[in-house]
Amino acid sequence: MVGIFGCILKEGNAAPVVHEALKRLEYRGYDSVGEVTIHKGKLYIKKDYGKIGEVHALYNLDDLPGRIGLGHIRWATHGAPMQVNAHPHVDCENQVAVVQNGIIENYAEIKGELENLGHLFKSKTDTEVVAHLIEEKLKKGLSFVKAFHEILNRLEGSFSIATICVKDSDKILCAQKESLLTIGLGENAVYCSSDIPTFLPMAKNTVMIESGEVGILSERDYEIRKFSDWSQVLREPKIIDWVPEVAEKEGYPHFMLKEIHAQPSTLRTTIRLQEEYLDLMTTFLDRAKELFLVACGTSYHACLAASYMFSKMAFLSTHPVFASELIEQIGKSVNIDITILALSQSGETTDTLAAVDYARLHAATILGLTNVIGSTLTRVSRVYICQQAGPEIGVAATKTFTAQLSVLAQLALKLAEKRGKLSHVEMKNYEEKLKQIPEVVERVVRTQESKVKQIAKKYHDKPFFFFFGRGISSAIALEGTLKLLETNYLPSMAYPVAEIEHGVINVIQPGAPAIFICPKDDTHKKIIEDIREMKAQGASIIAVVEEGDEEIKALANDYVEVEKGVPEFLCPIQCIVPLQLFAYYMAVERGLNPDSPRHLTKAVTVK
Ligand code: AGP
Repeated sequence: MVGIFGCILKEGNAAPVVHEALKRLEYRGYDSVGEVTIHKGKLYIKKDYGKIGEVHALYNLDDLPGRIGLGHIRWATHGAPMQVNAHPHVDCENQVAVVQNGIIENYAEIKGELENLGHLFKSKTDTEVVAHLIEEKLKKGLSFVKAFHEILNRLEGSFSIATICVKDSDKILCAQKESLLTIGLGENAVYCSSDIPTFLPMAKNTVMIESGEVGILSERDYEIRKFSDWSQVLREPKIIDWVPEVAEKEGYPHFMLKEIHAQPSTLRTTIRLQEEYLDLMTTFLDRAKELFLVACGTSYHACLAASYMFSKMAFLSTHPVFASELIEQIGKSVNIDITILALSQSGETTDTLAAVDYARLHAATILGLTNVIGSTLTRVSRVYICQQAGPEIGVAATKTFTAQLSVLAQLALKLAEKRGKLSHVEMKNYEEKLKQIPEVVERVVRTQESKVKQIAKKYHDKPFFFFFGRGISSAIALEGTLKLLETNYLPSMAYPVAEIEHGVINVIQPGAPAIFICPKDDTHKKIIEDIREMKAQGASIIAVVEEGDEEIKALANDYVEVEKGVPEFLCPIQCIVPLQLFAYYMAVERGLNPDSPRHLTKAVTVK
C-alpha cells in the first residue's frame, strides 16, 4: 500500500512528472519506489527498495521515455521491501504494468490458478496477479479495456489500481474499491492518483472515482464506468483549492485527527487479515506453555488488553511485561518453554528488540505483531503478523493501536474456537460483531466528536486528570492517559479503579476531573459504586458510557456515548476513540501541536 500516481501528457516526458509527484507523497512513509512509462510499444521500468532520492541517485528516475507513466511508493504488505517486490509489476510478456495501493485479499487463490496456467511470478506481492490476469484475457483476444473490466470483479479487498498496456498505449486504466482514487484535469495533462497532493500543483479540477468504478484516461478525455454493469457515470469535476500542506492531511488540520478518522478504514483492512497468518499464530499461542506479552508504550497497553481477551475468551493466562523490564523481571526464568508475543507498531523499538534478543538467546519462541513488514521485529520472529494499518504520521499512536487491538481480538477468537471454548452460535455472533466494528467506530466518531470537543473546552485548563476503568477497560484508561500525557504535557494518572482505596483517594481534590470508562460488562455494577465514591470526594466525573446507560449518565458531570451491544473483547476498540479525540481537542484548546509533541519520536530507537 501507500500511493499510486499516473499521468498522460500532451507533450514531453512523463517520468520527471511522476518523479515529482511521488516526492509529494514522501511525508507518508514508504520503503520502495518505482516508475513505468510506455514508448514505441515497450514498457520502461525503474524501481527499487529505498527512498526516492536514493533510488534516483542510483538509476535516474527522470530519463524513461514516453508521455504516459505510472508511479508508486510502497509500504510493504505482502512480500518484504526488496527490488523485486517494488511496484510496478508486469505480466509474463512485459506488456502490462500495474501499480496498486491497498490489499487484494484473494490473491493467493488467483495466483495458484494462474500458476497452473503457466504464469511465472517474480514477486511475493498481491499486486502482480492483476498484470497476469489481464495478460490471460489479452491472450483470449480481448481488448485492454475489456480485459481490465473482466478481471475487476475477481478482485476482493480494498484497493486502487492503475495499469497501462503496450497494446493500447494511449490509455491509463484505473479503478478503486473502498480506497481513494481521483482524476486530475490539468491544461496539458490528465492525472490519476490515490492522493490529491500529487497533482495539486498542476491540476485543481478533480473528479473522484467512487468505490466500484473504473476511470479510462486518454490524452484529452476521461470516462468513468461502474465495474458491475459497465454503465457510464457522469460526474462533474470539482475545484480543489487546498494548499499543499492541507492537501497532505486531506483537509484535516492535523495528522492525528486524520488518523483518528481513518480508523474505520484501517479496521476494515485489519479484520480481513489472511486466515493462514492468524491460524499459524493461533497454533503457536495454543501450544505456549507460558506466554509473555512484551512491548512499550501504547503497544504495551494493547498487550494488557490482550491479556483479558485471551483469558476470558480462550482461557489462556498470559503475562504482560514492559519490554524494558523483561530481563530484570523474568530474565532468569526465560527458557525453551517460554513464548514471547512482542508488539511494536514500528518493529524497531530498542527496548522491545532488546527483550526479544535476550529471549531468543535463551531459546524462547518469538512471535511478533507489527505494522512494518521488513522491520527488525519481523526478521527475528518465528512467526509474525502485519497489522496492515498503513503508515502513521502522528507521533501519538491512534490507528495503529486499534489495529493492534483488532488483530489481538481475532487471535483470541480463533484461540477460543481452537480450544472449544465457544459454541457455534457464540462464534458466529462474535464474528458478526467483529465485522461490524469499523462501522461502530465510524458512528462513535461521527456522533461524539463535537461532544468531546465541548468537554475539552470545558476542562482544558485543569492541571491534573485521572483515568479509571475496571477489567479490560483498565488498559484503555492507561492508553487514554498516555494520549493526554504525550500531546498535552499534562500530568495524569490511570488505575484499575479499585486501586484508589490503596492510596490514590488521598489526592482526589474537589473539582478534579476523573474520566471513567464504563461499558456494560461484568464490572458495571462495581464501577457505579466507584463513581459514587469519587463524587463524594468532589471529583468531576466524565464518563464513557454505553448509549442508554441512564444510571451512569445521571451520576456524571459530562459523558460521551459508545454503542451498546459490543462484546467485551471488542469494546476497547470503540472506547479508546473518545479518549483519542479528547487528547487531540485538549491539545488544540491549549494551543499545542498534537502532531509533534516535544521530546518524542515515532519510534524510540535509542537507549
Ligand atoms: C504511543 O503513542 C507512543 N508514540 C509510544 O508510547 C509508542 O507506543 C512506544 O514507543 C512503542 O512503539 P512501538 O509500538 O513502535 O514499539
